Amino acid sequence: MDIVLEAQGKINLTLEVIAKRPDGYHELSTVMQSVTLADTLTLRPAAAAITLETDNPGLPTDSRNLIVRAAYALRERTGVWAGAHIHLHKRIPLAAGMAGGSADAAATLAGLNQLWDLHLSQPELAEIALTLGSDVPFCLRGGTVYAAGRGEILTPLPPLPAWPVLLVTPRFPVATAEVYRRLDLAGLTPAPAAAVRAVVSQGTIEALSPYMVNALETVTERDYPVIGALKARLRELGAAVSLMSGSGPTVFGLFARTEAAEAAYRDLQDSPSSVHLAFLAPAGIVFPAEPGSIKY
Ligand code: C5P
Repeated sequence: MDIVLEAQGKINLTLEVIAKRPDGYHELSTVMQSVTLADTLTLRPAAAAITLETDNPGLPTDSRNLIVRAAYALRERTGVWAGAHIHLHKRIPLAAGMAGGSADAAATLAGLNQLWDLHLSQPELAEIALTLGSDVPFCLRGGTVYAAGRGEILTPLPPLPAWPVLLVTPRFPVATAEVYRRLDLAGLTPAPAAAVRAVVSQGTIEALSPYMVNALETVTERDYPVIGALKARLRELGAAVSLMSGSGPTVFGLFARTEAAEAAYRDLQDSPSSVHLAFLAPAGIVFPAEPGSIKY
């Protein structure tokens, strides 16, 4: 039987960079938040091969794709040499700071764990996830999560309300590694992690918004002034707060009311960027067929 999953994207409600590490990665202090904008993966049992098909011609379907790498990593880890045919319907913009590829990889791990009857635990899946990318362990869990380390040391926070969020993605890709490479750590003064966690736990936009900063804006927004212009436009259109997500270029605006977000969505139809209206979500992966699972 086919397994269908929604792999939801993320935004960073805060993203602070603490230090560069000896392994080349950066030590982060970030609040990651799932959103309902999602890719759909359909997993079908197959004899031995792992094959991937997608409606997005910009994506590779071989082992350059994180979905295929996730499937191979599961086979390596378990020794189960099963096959699967995977179909990907892509909605999350590519190389846009929303962890689209990471979400697909996480959904592949969770879905194949079922399809192949592997019975790996969440911690075992999370360990494989980190070998695929820093954001993949978060995507496996999702919701509202404080993340430290490379982004894999996760402290779940109380879920935020399903606030509407407008996601505006300029149509150019940003290479995350390059943004981190050019980041000037000397100019940054991160807020104490305990304070960030405390304000998120209050669950109001008013408490949260003064803490909503993204250190990576100092690189990406300087390169692309359109990012600053989009943040200002979202505020003009009624967003309570606007910020770049991840290494960009996606800019998001949080709204207190859905009608205000819908009106802003209509106003942005003249924008050359891609615009999506979504909601904050309490999980990363949704199995739509599962009884009781939430489908937005
Ligand atoms: O882990 P992932 O492959 O998604 O990261 C992409 C790039 O972003 C890394 O190669 C690294 O240069 C940078 N990065 C970082 N510190 C992190 C996460 C990512 O420097 N915590």
